[in-house]
Amino acid sequence: MNKKGFIFDLDGVIVDTAKYHFLAWKNLANSIGIDFTHEQNEQLKGVSRIKSLEKILAWGNKTISDTEFQQLMHDKNEDYLQYINKMDASEILPDVSRVLDFLIEGNQAIALGSASKNARPILEKVDLLSKFEEIVDGNDVTKAKPDPEVFLIGAKLLNINPEDCIVFEDSVAGIEAANVANMISIGIGSKNVLGHANHVFKDFTEISNEFLQSLIDK
Ligand code: BG6
Ligand code: MG
Repeated sequence: MNKKGFIFDLDGVIVDTAKYHFLAWKNLANSIGIDFTHEQNEQLKGVSRIKSLEKILAWGNKTISDTEFQQLMHDKNEDYLQYINKMDASEILPDVSRVLDFLIEGNQAIALGSASKNARPILEKVDLLSKFEEIVDGNDVTKAKPDPEVFLIGAKLLNINPEDCIVFEDSVAGIEAANVANMISIGIGSKNVLGHANHVFKDFTEISNEFLQSLIDK
């Protein structure tokens, strides 16, 4: 059938929010006496908010109470939201809009599959919310990537078989999740990091309409 399900990750695929996550996590880590580097931030890509804080505390060899943990998660998010609130359509990554519009024109099914609980407000800020038929985000899943749950829910909502779905992802865990779900995985980033994806492109400027059409026609 010439209708496929295209599922997009958000952070690092549609918008470069990793820089805002970095600033907010660094601020928080430093406030409790823990160093936080860009290399560590890389390891938090695609990782849920809870898991991210657990990792930071482990790197800093720090144990805290549940109440403090909840407070820190809340503080980090408040800080992150200050950056998000300033976002607009200029922060959409190159050629993302061209790819979305090509797929919409071709009557393809399009969903978002993100670990973020802030996915909807971010899509609203950059004016892309209306492009997605379905949105699955951090509020809808119980198991984080590399578990395939987020993408399988997306496929189900789109009413497309998993093997007819294509996932765009920038994280190691996300590519693994797409592969486990039996979907075609497309890595956005470096081949060194995302070598386990079916295809890897530096960014969407490298993804031609002809390539998209070949995925539709498969
Ligand atoms: C992922 C990001 O998309 O969402 C992670 O790559 C982030 O860095 C995770 O921690 C959860 O996001 P949020 O917005 O719910 O804190
Ligand atoms: Mg991502």
